[in-house]
Amino acid sequence: MSKERVLAALEAHRGEHISGESLAKELDVSRTAIWKAIELLRGEGYDIEATPRKGYRLVGDFDRLSEGAVRAHLPAPLKDISLSIFPTIDSTNNEAKRRFLEGSLHRWDTILAEEQTKGRGRTGKSFTSPAHTGLYMTTLFREGPLPIQETEELLVTVRAAVAVCRAIESLTGLSPKIKWVNDLYLNDKKICGILSEAELSMESHELLAIYLGIGINVTTRPKDFGEVADVAGSLDVPLFRSELAAAILRELLALEEISREEIMQSYRERSFLIGRRVSFIYQGRSLEGLVTRLDDEAHLHIDVDGDILVLSSGEVSFQNLGIDQ
Ligand code: BTN
Repeated sequence: MSKERVLAALEAHRGEHISGESLAKELDVSRTAIWKAIELLRGEGYDIEATPRKGYRLVGDFDRLSEGAVRAHLPAPLKDISLSIFPTIDSTNNEAKRRFLEGSLHRWDTILAEEQTKGRGRTGKSFTSPAHTGLYMTTLFREGPLPIQETEELLVTVRAAVAVCRAIESLTGLSPKIKWVNDLYLNDKKICGILSEAELSMESHELLAIYLGIGINVTTRPKDFGEVADVAGSLDVPLFRSELAAAILRELLALEEISREEIMQSYRERSFLIGRRVSFIYQGRSLEGLVTRLDDEAHLHIDVDGDILVLSSGEVSFQNLGIDQ
């Protein structure tokens, strides 16, 4: 009897009682097998109450990623995707790429890890990914072959930023802000980064896949952030990461039905930068200016002493300008 299946059933009824008898019936095993699985789960740290005549109940805030819990919260069209959870891995984006190239990863399939030893961010930076405190996931978001559209990658990141915000908002009531293009901020600290990567065919000039990697600091402590401790923060609210993963997939799916204009509107409403002064590098020069707007292509318009510069990529910084945040 796999304890994963018992866990999945308990997760699906988290906080409610479920009798040993109905668990045994649901999973088609003996009540002794259920009891043994419960003991194993308790040994791992799960808090499972047993009340006479009522049954078992999963309580407490012990939080480990579990396939059953993610699946229990997925919307119907995604119920059958493949989910792989690693205790530790180099990078979920790397694993997604490996699997896609060997033919075993398909659209919406998702890799999750409790810890990454080589978590990657944009522009070659690393992404600190300590064990059990963050959500590190990669989804095969587009499966080709598809024509290459230059703006596609930027817009995937935009969608993902909106989806992650909506997932966090719905589960926690918090309101993260989006720092163009792909970072989420809460209380002026970065709590999430998004790395979308494309698999291209040089021969056919087609897009074969887009891997969407999302990293969220859920309960990571300042001491674990190392050199990014000044800028990084955490959600720091009670939350089950499996539910968060499922909520993100649900929101990503929901956004497939929504027009680019509406998605950009949602993105703008959560923008951290509109109306702020920022510094940035433009054609080799260090400049400062006021962010005036984000257009429907997700390009950033910055007023630099009366001239409007339009950025389609790059990084802007709002720190160390001595302005009100
Ligand atoms: C950034 O901050 O520039 C992007 C960070 C993206 C981190 C996520 S965690 C899951 C996935 N695997 C990685 O190695 N990176 C992404």
